[in-house]
Amino acid sequence: SSATVGASKARDGFTSSFGVLAATLGSAVGLGNIWKFPYLTGTNGGAGFLVVYVCATLLVGLPVMISEIMLGRRAKSDAVTALKKLAPAGQPWWLISAFGVLSAFLIMAFYSEVAAWVFAYVFKAIGGGILSSDPKVTSAAFGSLIADPVQSLLWQWLVLVLIGGILLMGVAKGIEAVTKKLMPLLFLLLLVIGVRSLMLPGAMQGVSFLFTPDFSKITAGVVLTAVGLAFFKLSIGMGTMMTYGSYFRDDQNIPATTLRVMCADLFVSMLAGIAIFPAVFAFGFKPEAGPSLLFITIPAVFASMPLGQLFMVAFFILAAIASTGAMLSILEVPVSVLSERFGISRPKATVLNLLLLAVIGASCALSNSSMAEFKLFGMTMFDLFDFVTSNILMPLGGIFLCLFVGWVWGFDRLKAALSNEGQLHNEALVRVLFVVVRFVSPLLILVVMLKGLKLF
Ligand code: PFF
Repeated sequence: SSATVGASKARDGFTSSFGVLAATLGSAVGLGNIWKFPYLTGTNGGAGFLVVYVCATLLVGLPVMISEIMLGRRAKSDAVTALKKLAPAGQPWWLISAFGVLSAFLIMAFYSEVAAWVFAYVFKAIGGGILSSDPKVTSAAFGSLIADPVQSLLWQWLVLVLIGGILLMGVAKGIEAVTKKLMPLLFLLLLVIGVRSLMLPGAMQGVSFLFTPDFSKITAGVVLTAVGLAFFKLSIGMGTMMTYGSYFRDDQNIPATTLRVMCADLFVSMLAGIAIFPAVFAFGFKPEAGPSLLFITIPAVFASMPLGQLFMVAFFILAAIASTGAMLSILEVPVSVLSERFGISRPKATVLNLLLLAVIGASCALSNSSMAEFKLFGMTMFDLFDFVTSNILMPLGGIFLCLFVGWVWGFDRLKAALSNEGQLHNEALVRVLFVVVRFVSPLLILVVMLKGLKLF
Protein backbone atom coordinates (compact mmCIF):
# COMPACT_ATOMS: atom_id res chain seq x y z
CA SER A 1 0.00 0.00 0.00
CA SER A 2 1.11 3.57 -0.62
CA ALA A 3 1.39 4.29 3.10
CA THR A 4 4.44 2.07 3.45
CA VAL A 5 6.19 3.20 0.30
CA GLY A 6 9.11 5.47 0.83
CA ALA A 7 10.06 4.31 4.31
CA SER A 8 12.49 1.75 2.99
CA LYS A 9 12.94 -0.17 -0.21
CA ALA A 10 10.63 -3.20 -0.24
CA ARG A 11 12.43 -6.46 0.38
CA ASP A 12 12.81 -8.66 -2.68
CA GLY A 13 10.66 -11.81 -2.60
CA PHE A 14 8.49 -14.19 -4.56
CA THR A 15 5.57 -12.44 -6.23
CA SER A 16 3.05 -15.15 -7.01
CA SER A 17 1.82 -18.35 -5.46
CA PHE A 18 2.99 -20.32 -8.49
CA GLY A 19 6.34 -18.57 -8.24
CA VAL A 20 6.71 -19.72 -4.63
CA LEU A 21 5.95 -23.28 -5.65
CA ALA A 22 8.26 -23.23 -8.66
CA ALA A 23 11.20 -21.81 -6.72
CA THR A 24 10.73 -24.07 -3.70
CA LEU A 25 10.24 -27.13 -5.84
CA GLY A 26 13.14 -25.92 -7.95
CA SER A 27 15.31 -26.04 -4.86
CA ALA A 28 14.19 -29.52 -3.83
CA VAL A 29 14.29 -31.12 -7.26
CA GLY A 30 17.77 -31.49 -8.61
CA LEU A 31 20.67 -33.85 -9.02
CA GLY A 32 19.41 -35.37 -5.79
CA ASN A 33 16.57 -36.95 -7.75
CA ILE A 34 18.35 -37.71 -10.97
CA TRP A 35 21.83 -38.59 -9.81
CA LYS A 36 21.91 -39.29 -6.06
CA PHE A 37 18.59 -41.02 -5.47
CA PRO A 38 19.09 -43.59 -8.26
CA TYR A 39 22.67 -44.42 -7.34
CA LEU A 40 21.96 -44.68 -3.61
CA THR A 41 18.93 -46.85 -4.30
CA GLY A 42 21.14 -48.95 -6.56
CA THR A 43 23.96 -49.39 -4.05
CA ASN A 44 21.67 -49.94 -1.05
CA GLY A 45 19.54 -52.74 -2.41
CA GLY A 46 16.60 -51.09 -4.17
CA ALA A 47 13.05 -51.02 -2.86
CA GLY A 48 13.96 -51.61 0.80
CA PHE A 49 16.02 -48.42 0.76
CA LEU A 50 13.18 -46.62 -0.97
CA VAL A 51 10.77 -47.55 1.84
CA VAL A 52 13.15 -46.29 4.54
CA TYR A 53 13.76 -43.12 2.56
CA VAL A 54 10.03 -42.40 2.19
CA CYS A 55 9.54 -42.94 5.95
CA ALA A 56 12.41 -40.54 6.68
CA THR A 57 10.84 -37.98 4.37
CA LEU A 58 7.50 -38.18 6.17
CA LEU A 59 8.71 -38.38 9.77
CA VAL A 60 11.65 -36.03 9.57
CA GLY A 61 11.72 -34.22 6.24
CA LEU A 62 8.20 -32.85 6.19
CA PRO A 63 8.09 -31.51 9.78
CA VAL A 64 11.55 -29.94 9.54
CA MET A 65 10.72 -28.35 6.20
CA ILE A 66 7.46 -26.83 7.44
CA SER A 67 9.19 -25.50 10.56
CA GLU A 68 12.09 -24.06 8.64
CA ILE A 69 9.96 -22.25 6.06
CA MET A 70 7.76 -20.93 8.84
CA LEU A 71 10.71 -19.47 10.77
CA GLY A 72 12.00 -17.83 7.62
CA ARG A 73 8.70 -16.22 6.78
CA ARG A 74 8.30 -14.97 10.36
CA ALA A 75 11.69 -13.33 10.40
CA LYS A 76 11.78 -12.13 6.79
CA SER A 77 15.53 -11.94 6.74
CA ASP A 78 18.61 -13.96 5.86
CA ALA A 79 19.09 -17.21 7.79
CA VAL A 80 21.57 -15.94 10.37
CA THR A 81 19.58 -12.77 11.13
CA ALA A 82 16.38 -14.81 11.22
CA LEU A 83 17.46 -16.91 14.19
CA LYS A 84 19.02 -13.88 15.90
CA LYS A 85 15.66 -12.14 15.62
CA LEU A 86 13.51 -15.07 16.69
CA ALA A 87 15.56 -16.49 19.55
CA PRO A 88 15.61 -15.01 23.06
CA ALA A 89 18.47 -12.54 23.44
CA GLY A 90 21.82 -14.13 24.09
CA GLN A 91 20.91 -17.66 23.01
CA PRO A 92 23.16 -18.82 20.17
CA TRP A 93 20.53 -20.52 17.94
CA TRP A 94 21.89 -18.54 15.00
CA LEU A 95 24.78 -20.98 14.98
CA ILE A 96 22.41 -23.35 13.14
CA SER A 97 22.49 -20.92 10.24
CA ALA A 98 26.21 -20.28 10.54
CA PHE A 99 26.77 -24.01 10.10
CA GLY A 100 24.19 -23.83 7.31
CA VAL A 101 26.41 -21.40 5.46
CA LEU A 102 29.27 -23.86 5.85
CA SER A 103 27.06 -26.66 4.50
CA ALA A 104 26.06 -24.48 1.57
CA PHE A 105 29.70 -24.10 0.56
CA LEU A 106 30.55 -27.76 1.01
CA ILE A 107 27.48 -28.91 -0.93
CA MET A 108 27.96 -26.37 -3.67
CA ALA A 109 31.60 -27.46 -4.03
CA PHE A 110 30.76 -31.02 -5.11
CA TYR A 111 27.29 -30.33 -6.50
CA SER A 112 28.63 -27.82 -9.00
CA GLU A 113 31.07 -30.47 -10.21
CA VAL A 114 28.32 -33.04 -10.82
CA ALA A 115 26.42 -30.26 -12.58
CA ALA A 116 29.60 -29.61 -14.54
CA TRP A 117 29.57 -33.22 -15.82
CA VAL A 118 25.91 -32.83 -16.72
CA PHE A 119 26.50 -29.63 -18.67
CA ALA A 120 29.48 -31.22 -20.41
CA TYR A 121 27.29 -34.20 -21.30
CA VAL A 122 24.70 -31.98 -22.97
CA PHE A 123 27.37 -30.94 -25.44
CA LYS A 124 28.92 -34.36 -25.73
CA ALA A 125 25.48 -35.77 -26.45
CA ILE A 126 24.94 -33.20 -29.18
CA GLY A 127 28.33 -34.07 -30.64
CA GLY A 128 27.45 -37.76 -30.51
CA GLY A 129 30.78 -38.82 -28.97
CA ILE A 130 29.26 -40.62 -25.98
CA LEU A 131 26.53 -42.36 -27.92
CA SER A 132 27.46 -46.01 -27.61
CA SER A 133 25.51 -49.03 -26.41
CA ASP A 134 28.72 -50.60 -25.13
CA PRO A 135 29.13 -49.91 -21.39
CA LYS A 136 32.91 -50.15 -21.79
CA VAL A 137 32.86 -47.26 -24.23
CA THR A 138 30.55 -45.10 -22.11
CA SER A 139 32.54 -45.71 -18.93
CA ALA A 140 35.77 -44.87 -20.72
CA ALA A 141 34.18 -41.65 -21.98
CA PHE A 142 33.08 -40.69 -18.46
CA GLY A 143 36.43 -41.71 -17.04
CA SER A 144 38.31 -39.50 -19.44
CA LEU A 145 36.11 -36.51 -18.58
CA ILE A 146 36.53 -36.74 -14.82
CA ALA A 147 40.21 -37.61 -15.05
CA ASP A 148 40.91 -34.45 -17.05
CA PRO A 149 41.63 -31.61 -14.61
CA VAL A 150 41.27 -28.90 -17.22
CA GLN A 151 37.84 -29.96 -18.44
CA SER A 152 36.67 -30.61 -14.86
CA LEU A 153 37.63 -27.12 -13.77
CA LEU A 154 36.41 -25.26 -16.84
CA TRP A 155 32.97 -26.84 -16.83
CA GLN A 156 32.63 -26.12 -13.11
CA TRP A 157 33.52 -22.47 -13.63
CA LEU A 158 31.02 -22.23 -16.43
CA VAL A 159 28.32 -23.57 -14.11
CA LEU A 160 29.32 -21.15 -11.35
CA VAL A 161 29.21 -18.17 -13.71
CA LEU A 162 25.77 -19.18 -14.96
CA ILE A 163 24.34 -19.51 -11.46
CA GLY A 164 25.98 -16.25 -10.41
CA GLY A 165 24.44 -14.50 -13.39
CA ILE A 166 20.93 -15.57 -12.45
CA LEU A 167 21.42 -14.69 -8.79
CA LEU A 168 22.59 -11.21 -9.77
CA MET A 169 19.15 -10.57 -11.21
CA GLY A 170 17.60 -10.98 -7.77
CA VAL A 171 14.94 -13.12 -6.16
CA ALA A 172 11.80 -12.23 -8.16
CA LYS A 173 13.44 -11.38 -11.48
CA GLY A 174 16.16 -14.02 -11.24
CA ILE A 175 15.27 -17.10 -9.20
CA GLU A 176 11.48 -16.92 -9.55
CA ALA A 177 11.42 -16.00 -13.24
CA VAL A 178 13.88 -18.70 -14.23
CA THR A 179 12.41 -21.55 -12.19
CA LYS A 180 8.86 -20.71 -13.35
CA LYS A 181 9.93 -21.33 -16.92
CA LEU A 182 12.14 -24.33 -16.30
CA MET A 183 10.18 -26.51 -13.87
CA PRO A 184 7.24 -27.32 -16.17
CA LEU A 185 9.70 -28.21 -18.92
CA LEU A 186 11.51 -30.55 -16.57
CA PHE A 187 8.35 -32.49 -15.72
CA LEU A 188 7.45 -32.86 -19.36
CA LEU A 189 10.87 -34.19 -20.36
CA LEU A 190 10.99 -36.62 -17.47
CA LEU A 191 7.57 -38.05 -18.28
CA VAL A 192 8.52 -38.65 -21.89
CA ILE A 193 11.79 -40.35 -20.96
CA GLY A 194 10.16 -42.45 -18.21
CA VAL A 195 7.58 -43.78 -20.63
CA ARG A 196 10.27 -44.53 -23.19
CA SER A 197 12.32 -46.49 -20.67
CA LEU A 198 9.30 -48.54 -19.58
CA MET A 199 8.83 -49.66 -23.16
CA LEU A 200 12.25 -51.34 -23.25
CA PRO A 201 12.34 -55.13 -23.33
CA GLY A 202 13.09 -56.41 -19.83
CA ALA A 203 11.96 -53.17 -18.20
CA MET A 204 9.94 -55.01 -15.55
CA GLN A 205 13.05 -56.31 -13.81
CA GLY A 206 14.05 -52.73 -13.12
CA VAL A 207 10.58 -51.84 -11.94
CA SER A 208 10.56 -54.73 -9.51
CA PHE A 209 14.04 -53.75 -8.25
CA LEU A 210 12.57 -50.36 -7.45
CA PHE A 211 9.30 -51.55 -5.93
CA THR A 212 9.77 -55.02 -4.38
CA PRO A 213 11.39 -54.45 -1.00
CA ASP A 214 14.04 -56.69 0.49
CA PHE A 215 15.05 -55.45 3.91
CA SER A 216 18.07 -57.71 4.33
CA LYS A 217 20.42 -54.94 3.20
CA ILE A 218 19.11 -52.37 5.68
CA THR A 219 21.77 -51.59 8.28
CA ALA A 220 22.09 -48.60 10.62
CA GLY A 221 24.41 -47.01 8.09
CA VAL A 222 21.85 -47.44 5.33
CA VAL A 223 19.15 -45.83 7.49
CA LEU A 224 21.42 -42.86 8.11
CA THR A 225 22.03 -42.61 4.37
CA ALA A 226 18.25 -42.54 3.82
CA VAL A 227 17.76 -39.84 6.45
CA GLY A 228 20.63 -37.87 4.97
CA LEU A 229 19.06 -38.17 1.53
CA ALA A 230 15.76 -36.87 2.92
CA PHE A 231 17.58 -33.77 4.19
CA PHE A 232 19.54 -33.28 1.01
CA LYS A 233 16.50 -33.81 -1.16
CA LEU A 234 14.29 -31.29 0.60
CA SER A 235 17.11 -28.76 0.99
CA ILE A 236 16.60 -28.62 4.76
CA GLY A 237 18.73 -28.43 7.89
CA MET A 238 21.06 -25.77 6.48
CA GLY A 239 19.05 -22.57 6.10
CA THR A 240 18.01 -22.89 2.46
CA MET A 241 14.33 -23.34 3.18
CA MET A 242 14.53 -20.68 5.88
CA THR A 243 15.91 -18.27 3.31
CA TYR A 244 13.27 -19.19 0.75
CA GLY A 245 10.61 -19.04 3.47
CA SER A 246 11.60 -15.43 4.04
CA TYR A 247 10.53 -14.73 0.45
CA PHE A 248 7.15 -16.44 0.90
CA ARG A 249 4.04 -14.32 0.81
CA ASP A 250 2.04 -13.91 4.01
CA ASP A 251 -1.06 -15.52 2.54
CA GLN A 252 0.82 -18.61 1.36
CA ASN A 253 -0.39 -21.82 3.04
CA ILE A 254 2.93 -23.20 4.29
CA PRO A 255 1.90 -26.76 5.24
CA ALA A 256 0.02 -27.21 1.96
CA THR A 257 2.85 -25.82 -0.15
CA THR A 258 5.38 -27.98 1.66
CA LEU A 259 3.28 -31.10 1.24
CA ARG A 260 2.94 -30.38 -2.47
CA VAL A 261 6.67 -29.87 -2.87
CA MET A 262 7.41 -33.07 -0.97
CA CYS A 263 5.01 -35.14 -3.08
CA ALA A 264 6.19 -33.65 -6.35
CA ASP A 265 9.78 -34.24 -5.32
CA LEU A 266 9.11 -37.90 -4.51
CA PHE A 267 7.29 -38.19 -7.82
CA VAL A 268 10.31 -36.86 -9.71
CA SER A 269 12.58 -39.34 -7.93
CA MET A 270 10.23 -42.17 -8.87
CA LEU A 271 10.22 -40.98 -12.47
CA ALA A 272 14.00 -40.80 -12.47
CA GLY A 273 14.14 -44.32 -11.01
CA ILE A 274 11.71 -45.50 -13.64
CA ALA A 275 13.77 -43.85 -16.36
CA ILE A 276 17.00 -45.42 -15.15
CA PHE A 277 16.48 -48.86 -13.57
CA PRO A 278 14.51 -50.59 -16.32
CA ALA A 279 17.29 -49.51 -18.66
CA VAL A 280 20.00 -50.69 -16.27
CA PHE A 281 18.56 -54.19 -16.26
CA ALA A 282 17.53 -54.23 -19.91
CA PHE A 283 21.13 -53.60 -20.93
CA GLY A 284 22.78 -55.81 -18.36
CA PHE A 285 24.35 -53.11 -16.21
CA LYS A 286 24.84 -53.42 -12.46
CA PRO A 287 22.59 -51.17 -10.35
CA GLU A 288 25.46 -50.85 -7.83
CA ALA A 289 27.61 -48.72 -10.13
CA GLY A 290 27.58 -45.79 -7.66
CA PRO A 291 27.95 -42.09 -8.52
CA SER A 292 28.82 -42.82 -12.14
CA LEU A 293 25.55 -44.70 -12.77
CA LEU A 294 23.87 -41.76 -14.47
CA PHE A 295 26.79 -40.97 -16.72
CA ILE A 296 27.56 -44.48 -17.85
CA THR A 297 24.18 -46.18 -18.14
CA ILE A 298 22.05 -43.38 -19.48
CA PRO A 299 24.14 -42.83 -22.62
CA ALA A 300 24.16 -46.57 -23.28
CA VAL A 301 20.42 -46.72 -22.84
CA PHE A 302 19.80 -43.96 -25.29
CA ALA A 303 22.30 -45.28 -27.76
CA SER A 304 20.23 -48.42 -28.09
CA MET A 305 16.94 -46.75 -28.87
CA PRO A 306 15.52 -45.11 -31.94
CA LEU A 307 15.97 -41.34 -31.77
CA GLY A 308 18.37 -42.06 -28.93
CA GLN A 309 20.54 -39.03 -29.46
CA LEU A 310 17.56 -36.72 -29.27
CA PHE A 311 16.38 -38.33 -26.02
CA MET A 312 19.84 -38.20 -24.57
CA VAL A 313 20.28 -34.51 -25.30
CA ALA A 314 16.83 -33.92 -23.77
CA PHE A 315 17.72 -35.94 -20.69
CA PHE A 316 20.91 -34.09 -19.91
CA ILE A 317 19.26 -30.74 -20.57
CA LEU A 318 16.63 -31.81 -18.07
CA ALA A 319 19.30 -32.71 -15.51
CA ALA A 320 21.04 -29.39 -16.15
CA ILE A 321 17.77 -27.54 -15.56
CA ALA A 322 17.11 -29.45 -12.36
CA SER A 323 20.58 -28.73 -11.03
CA THR A 324 20.19 -25.02 -11.78
CA GLY A 325 17.17 -24.46 -9.53
CA ALA A 326 18.90 -26.33 -6.72
CA MET A 327 22.19 -24.47 -7.01
CA LEU A 328 20.41 -21.11 -7.03
CA SER A 329 18.92 -21.98 -3.67
CA ILE A 330 22.15 -23.31 -2.17
CA LEU A 331 24.07 -20.15 -3.05
CA GLU A 332 21.22 -17.88 -2.02
CA VAL A 333 21.99 -18.79 1.61
CA PRO A 334 25.46 -17.16 1.80
CA VAL A 335 24.53 -14.46 -0.73
CA SER A 336 21.61 -13.28 1.38
CA VAL A 337 23.62 -13.47 4.61
CA LEU A 338 26.42 -11.37 3.12
CA SER A 339 24.12 -8.84 1.50
CA GLU A 340 21.50 -8.44 4.21
CA ARG A 341 23.40 -9.06 7.40
CA PHE A 342 26.69 -7.53 6.37
CA GLY A 343 25.31 -4.86 4.07
CA ILE A 344 27.46 -5.82 1.09
CA SER A 345 25.65 -5.11 -2.21
CA ARG A 346 24.01 -8.14 -3.78
CA PRO A 347 26.26 -8.15 -6.86
CA LYS A 348 29.38 -7.94 -4.71
CA ALA A 349 28.10 -10.62 -2.36
CA THR A 350 27.42 -12.92 -5.31
CA VAL A 351 30.85 -12.43 -6.88
CA LEU A 352 32.60 -12.86 -3.54
CA ASN A 353 30.83 -16.15 -2.91
CA LEU A 354 31.60 -17.40 -6.39
CA LEU A 355 35.29 -16.63 -6.04
CA LEU A 356 35.45 -18.46 -2.74
CA LEU A 357 33.56 -21.36 -4.30
CA ALA A 358 35.89 -21.57 -7.26
CA VAL A 359 38.66 -22.23 -4.73
CA ILE A 360 36.82 -24.73 -2.51
CA GLY A 361 35.11 -26.30 -5.53
CA ALA A 362 38.44 -26.99 -7.22
CA SER A 363 39.22 -29.59 -4.56
CA CYS A 364 36.11 -31.49 -5.71
CA ALA A 365 36.66 -30.88 -9.41
CA LEU A 366 40.12 -32.39 -9.06
CA SER A 367 39.06 -35.29 -6.81
CA ASN A 368 39.29 -37.71 -9.72
CA SER A 369 42.53 -36.37 -11.17
CA SER A 370 45.27 -34.20 -9.67
CA MET A 371 43.92 -34.49 -6.12
CA ALA A 372 42.75 -38.11 -6.23
CA GLU A 373 45.35 -39.08 -3.63
CA PHE A 374 44.51 -36.19 -1.31
CA LYS A 375 42.26 -37.86 1.23
CA LEU A 376 40.87 -37.10 4.67
CA PHE A 377 39.28 -39.92 6.71
CA GLY A 378 39.92 -42.10 3.66
CA MET A 379 37.77 -39.96 1.37
CA THR A 380 38.50 -37.57 -1.48
CA MET A 381 37.23 -34.02 -0.91
CA PHE A 382 34.30 -34.74 -3.21
CA ASP A 383 33.22 -37.75 -1.15
CA LEU A 384 34.04 -36.12 2.17
CA PHE A 385 31.97 -32.97 1.54
CA ASP A 386 29.08 -35.12 0.36
CA PHE A 387 29.30 -37.41 3.39
CA VAL A 388 29.77 -34.70 6.02
CA THR A 389 26.88 -32.55 4.81
CA SER A 390 24.24 -35.24 4.32
CA ASN A 391 25.15 -37.48 7.23
CA ILE A 392 26.28 -34.99 9.86
CA LEU A 393 25.72 -31.28 9.28
CA MET A 394 22.19 -31.29 7.84
CA PRO A 395 20.76 -33.84 10.30
CA LEU A 396 22.37 -31.92 13.18
CA GLY A 397 20.86 -28.71 11.84
CA GLY A 398 17.53 -30.53 11.72
CA ILE A 399 17.79 -31.65 15.35
CA PHE A 400 18.49 -28.13 16.56
CA LEU A 401 15.76 -26.58 14.43
CA CYS A 402 13.28 -29.05 15.92
CA LEU A 403 14.49 -28.30 19.42
CA PHE A 404 14.16 -24.58 18.79
CA VAL A 405 10.63 -24.80 17.42
CA GLY A 406 9.44 -27.44 19.87
CA TRP A 407 10.96 -26.10 23.09
CA VAL A 408 11.75 -22.41 22.60
CA TRP A 409 9.32 -21.12 19.98
CA GLY A 410 6.35 -23.04 21.37
CA PHE A 411 2.88 -24.10 20.33
CA ASP A 412 1.08 -20.75 20.31
CA ARG A 413 3.52 -19.09 17.98
CA LEU A 414 3.65 -22.16 15.79
CA LYS A 415 -0.12 -22.09 15.51
CA ALA A 416 -0.26 -18.38 14.74
CA ALA A 417 2.43 -18.66 12.08
CA LEU A 418 1.10 -21.77 10.36
CA SER A 419 -2.53 -20.68 10.37
CA ASN A 420 -1.59 -17.31 8.85
CA GLU A 421 -2.76 -15.59 12.07
CA GLY A 422 -5.95 -17.62 12.28
CA GLN A 423 -6.92 -17.37 8.61
CA LEU A 424 -6.48 -21.11 8.08
CA HIS A 425 -8.20 -23.60 10.35
CA ASN A 426 -5.60 -26.28 10.79
CA GLU A 427 -5.25 -26.57 14.55
CA ALA A 428 -5.31 -30.39 14.68
CA LEU A 429 -2.56 -30.53 12.12
CA VAL A 430 -0.48 -28.01 14.01
CA ARG A 431 -0.91 -30.07 17.19
CA VAL A 432 0.39 -33.19 15.50
CA LEU A 433 3.27 -31.27 13.98
CA PHE A 434 4.15 -29.77 17.35
CA VAL A 435 4.45 -33.16 19.03
CA VAL A 436 6.45 -34.54 16.13
CA VAL A 437 8.85 -31.61 16.12
CA ARG A 438 9.17 -31.58 19.92
CA PHE A 439 9.84 -35.28 20.40
CA VAL A 440 9.67 -37.60 17.42
CA SER A 441 11.90 -36.03 14.78
CA PRO A 442 14.80 -34.92 16.96
CA LEU A 443 14.97 -38.23 18.82
CA LEU A 444 14.74 -40.20 15.63
CA ILE A 445 17.48 -38.22 13.92
CA LEU A 446 19.68 -38.49 17.01
CA VAL A 447 19.34 -42.25 17.32
CA VAL A 448 19.88 -42.77 13.60
CA MET A 449 22.99 -40.59 13.66
CA LEU A 450 24.51 -42.26 16.71
CA LYS A 451 23.87 -45.74 15.34
CA GLY A 452 24.71 -44.89 11.74
CA LEU A 453 28.02 -43.28 12.66
CA LYS A 454 28.69 -46.14 15.08
CA LEU A 455 29.01 -43.76 18.01
CA PHE A 456 26.68 -45.80 20.18
N1 PFF B 1 17.65 -30.63 -2.99
C1 PFF B 1 18.69 -30.59 -3.99
C2 PFF B 1 18.68 -31.89 -4.77
O1 PFF B 1 18.09 -32.86 -4.33
O2 PFF B 1 19.32 -31.93 -5.80
C3 PFF B 1 20.05 -30.36 -3.40
C4 PFF B 1 20.10 -29.28 -2.38
C5 PFF B 1 19.61 -28.02 -2.69
C6 PFF B 1 20.63 -29.52 -1.15
C7 PFF B 1 19.65 -27.01 -1.74
C8 PFF B 1 20.68 -28.53 -0.22
C9 PFF B 1 20.19 -27.30 -0.53
F1 PFF B 1 20.24 -26.35 0.37
